[in-house]
Amino acid sequence: MSVDAANQMPAADRNLETPAGARPVKLKLTEVSKTYANASKAVEALQPISAEIRAGEFLVFFGPSGCGKSTLLNIIAGFEEPTSGEITLDGTRVEGPHHDRLMLFQEHGLFPWLNVIENVLFGLRRQFRFKPKARRQRARQFLEMVHLDQFEKAPIHELSGGMKQRVALARALAPDPKVLLVDEPFPALDALTRTKLYGDLQEIFVRTGKTIILVTHDPREAACLGDRVLVFSGRPGRIKADIPIDLPRIRDINDPKVADYAKTIMSHLEGPSSESTAT
Ligand SMILES: Nc1ncnc2c1ncn2[C@@H]1O[C@H](COP(=O)(O)OP(=O)(O)O)[C@@H](O)[C@H]1O
Ligand SMILES: [Mg+2]
Repeated sequence: MSVDAANQMPAADRNLETPAGARPVKLKLTEVSKTYANASKAVEALQPISAEIRAGEFLVFFGPSGCGKSTLLNIIAGFEEPTSGEITLDGTRVEGPHHDRLMLFQEHGLFPWLNVIENVLFGLRRQFRFKPKARRQRARQFLEMVHLDQFEKAPIHELSGGMKQRVALARALAPDPKVLLVDEPFPALDALTRTKLYGDLQEIFVRTGKTIILVTHDPREAACLGDRVLVFSGRPGRIKADIPIDLPRIRDINDPKVADYAKTIMSHLEGPSSESTAT
């Protein structure tokens, strides 16, 4: 992904006309596994996982609680070391955290002593690709994208839960990560706010062409947001199914077609392993 100038939006990573399967591989996971070794026992969190995520793809990791979804996302982010296997981004092996892979957490993690725009600017600190003078302008553009441009000077404690998540989203997007990682960001919000955020996240996805991986245990959320859903088995996690979601965007979480896909996703979770559909 390129940024022509700090005051322009990131160039789209994909052409929407190009089918996902024909776009280059952005992130590649090869036999990535994780066993946590505690003093008393070893916990096998993930069996070896292999998957390819294409440029500009919205991929969802779906599975029951404790199946290792966050573990895998944390490994991709570089917060955890895999026990085995490797991850490449644009063909280069990744190790450790880097601004090319940024995470949006369930807890927004904003600094209460900074106002809205200062929080977004914090995400741009030490990002020498963007000239200091251009950073504020860039922060404003992303606040506008999440519909918070009127609130740049607001203190964090005055914002609703949904607004806080929007600021966190702007902060994660402003440094122009190659891959945005999203770990169950919405469960703490009310249904109406969630519904609005599902729409906004898709709008941003369409507008920026960002490659996104989102983790959820909610089959409707998976069907509403994903281009493709990887269904994980219970712990130790492994991929049971790989389900493309063939619905136009912007999707509505309450659309019956989304509910139909959610049923399909659930049936793979409950049913026997279907190795033939796994990647
Ligand atoms: N730091 C850790 N040490 C030991 N076990 C862990 C650690 N982190 C996660 N686990 C275990 O690994 C499994 C997968 O956890 P997690 O990735 O958080 O699942 P999910 O996000 O799918 O709910 C769980 O059984 C969890 O208890
Ligand atoms: Mg988790």
